[in-house]
Amino acid sequence: MSGYSWSLAFVFMKNDFIKIDRSIAIAPMIDWTHRHFRYFMRLISQHVLLYTEMITTSALLRGDSSRLLDFSEIEHPLALQLGGSDPKALAACAKLGEKWRYDEINFNLGCPSERVKAGCFGAVLMQQPDQVADCLKAMQDSVDLPVTLKMRLGLGYEFDQTFLYEFIEKMQQTGCRVFIVHARNAVLKNFSTKDNRHLVPLRHDIVYQLVKDFPDLTFILNGGIHTIEEASVSLEKVSGVMIGRAAYKNPYEWTKIDSVFFHSEKEIPTRKGIALKYFDYVKMMAEKNIPMSILLKPFIGLYYQQPLGRHWRTCLMKSQDIKEKIKELENLMLI
Ligand SMILES: Cc1cc2nc3c(=O)[nH]c(=O)nc-3n(C[C@H](O)[C@H](O)[C@H](O)COP(=O)(O)O)c2cc1C
Repeated sequence: MSGYSWSLAFVFMKNDFIKIDRSIAIAPMIDWTHRHFRYFMRLISQHVLLYTEMITTSALLRGDSSRLLDFSEIEHPLALQLGGSDPKALAACAKLGEKWRYDEINFNLGCPSERVKAGCFGAVLMQQPDQVADCLKAMQDSVDLPVTLKMRLGLGYEFDQTFLYEFIEKMQQTGCRVFIVHARNAVLKNFSTKDNRHLVPLRHDIVYQLVKDFPDLTFILNGGIHTIEEASVSLEKVSGVMIGRAAYKNPYEWTKIDSVFFHSEKEIPTRKGIALKYFDYVKMMAEKNIPMSILLKPFIGLYYQQPLGRHWRTCLMKSQDIKEKIKELENLMLI
């Protein structure tokens, strides 16, 4: 589909010549998009832009930065998502991200969870645009990487266009050029994170309008995209789309990304081919004492809606010795 070449968004920051193709990204998801899932997704697509789970400034500055930041080389292009509200701490963490050779720093303003709300960051911070701007500036001043924003359309159940447009204008003034918009409001009172994903209406149309009204900015659409076809339709109107839950639930769907959006002529990998490569990785990581429950989690959806699917999942869930488990899964694939 050569028609997509126009939709590639290239970002030029400071004096650096940084090019990231943002046509398709896999969303940051806590407990899901850890480095092992990202490795697995890289076997699915060589080009999709990957994001870490949100890492908070307090975890990073007080914790074991290697454990939180290390990744495999094949994960590039890879963005580090930060959560926090203190400009100095965010700047220090962005610097760490640059030192670790991430390709982008992303600031999370989308998360509505209680824990995040209590820490006064994530979506609740959208109530304080001046502070968000200070945070963005501090990060931009500390690194030569693109600093991007992941945000909601607004706060509360009602959509407020004036708020959204003023918010984006303010962030644009800081030099921020890339806005990943989860196309629904965040409702912080009486709504759980699950309610926020299911009960708050999706408004892709508002993001499409933003593209027209802010032609100098890059908008990445996020929320409710389930298939390659849906992504293709959206890519006619925005520079990029970000896929969240659908990448986890049915990862094999996204093996077409490279040929459809990146003109790759390589053969689409088979489920079995992906599984065998990931087994090698699992064996290597298991030797470093990474728990099997974490290593095998990315695998769960590989045979989604396939005859093997139920056996596959059951076998993954059963706790057993790694060697036995891999043998059992390999045998299953021969059926
Ligand atoms: C389990 C889970 C964890 C998430 N963690 C994060 C996170 O760390 N940072 C973030 O910006 N959004 C997070 N999100 C929101 C997703 O990035 C995405 O915006 C949301 O799921 C909507 O996209 P989707 O409809 O394609 O799933 C999370 C979502 C889920 C389901």
